[in-house]
Amino acid sequence: MKNQEIEPSETGDKQGTSTHWICTANHGFAPYAQEELRRLFGAVKSTVLIPGEVLRVTLQEEAEQVIEAIAGKPPVFLRHLFHIDWEWRASEQGELAAGIDELVAAAMSDPRLRDAATIAVQPRKSEHSLWSDSTAELKDMLQNRLSELKAEFVVRDADYIVSVFVGKEFIYAGISQPAHNISDWNGGAVRFQREEGQISRAKFKLLEAELTFGIDFSVFREALDIGAAPGGWTSFLLDRGLKVTAVDPAKMHPSLQNAPNLTMLRKNAGEVKFREHQFDLLVCDMSWSPKLTARLVSELLYALVPGGTAIVTVKLLSKKPMALIQEVIDMFQQSRMQVQRAKQLFHNRDEITLYMIKY
Ligand SMILES: C[S@@+](CC[C@H](N)C(=O)[O-])C[C@H]1O[C@@H](n2cnc3c(N)ncnc32)[C@H](O)[C@@H]1O
Repeated sequence: MKNQEIEPSETGDKQGTSTHWICTANHGFAPYAQEELRRLFGAVKSTVLIPGEVLRVTLQEEAEQVIEAIAGKPPVFLRHLFHIDWEWRASEQGELAAGIDELVAAAMSDPRLRDAATIAVQPRKSEHSLWSDSTAELKDMLQNRLSELKAEFVVRDADYIVSVFVGKEFIYAGISQPAHNISDWNGGAVRFQREEGQISRAKFKLLEAELTFGIDFSVFREALDIGAAPGGWTSFLLDRGLKVTAVDPAKMHPSLQNAPNLTMLRKNAGEVKFREHQFDLLVCDMSWSPKLTARLVSELLYALVPGGTAIVTVKLLSKKPMALIQEVIDMFQQSRMQVQRAKQLFHNRDEITLYMIKY
């Protein structure tokens, strides 16, 4: 595909390279994703496609440099991006059908797709989009139109992803390797099926942490779960074969009452005592003041073995979340915790997840 520069607002770009991207964050957090890009690349120009969530961003860098810089400093709030290889404006270039025809023709002639064994088509749309049917229908239509390619259409682990965003006036498309989009899920929206008997949606946060941070929870022996009720995380860890101590003044779900590997302490986390190095995993999802959470967790870190892992959600109560995150990270670092990743997962709402290792 060829990048067709057609948006008039881009004519003021400073001399040299500029590349264009569709960038996505959790709802309400796009300004922080934009700030992360600004800190990495300097000036950032953006147009809102979905308020608070999806932006079309111009960066004064080559695509390869953008991808490399992001891989070197994974962002907290920028959940997904794709490089715009091709864009098309409705009013100037005809009706939607004409745009789709051009998009399909460009994709069919792209050497990356012609040689790919597997392709994932990831369509999205804005409200009041040129595409009025569902995104599932958009995906079916695109896959039908691209069916002459020899590739098999898959959802995960594709050789290439075809990302398409249909807005109010524009169609944007890009072809990329999954590793270059931050997340290989469509728009970084990690979807899990709710299971029968699942205790809480909070379980999805730990499932997503496992997937995103590449943590194999089954290798741990014994976990401390702080702020455990009603028990979504606890049941997840029990399912992975761990012994779990769950601390929460609130009640755990009745289905956990007789779990053989579970010790329940109906107490405040400030009142509990453990053996030194008793646990090799500490998880905490207290939904509480972030600095008090950091202090409480820090005071319990004697119970985590050196080399042990901690997963802690940090509630973003403040209007300055980036400064708050840095303060909380500094507090943990003073408690001998090395932060491996700080990330707003798709299943985090007004919070982020810290993945740390004790040294
Ligand atoms: C978001 S819920 C946890 C959900 C849980 N991770 C799950 O998967 O079901 C937050 C919990 O933290 C608990 N909590 C808040 N402050 C606490 C404290 N100081 N000590 C222990 N638990 C606390 C609350 O009682 C509440 O049950």
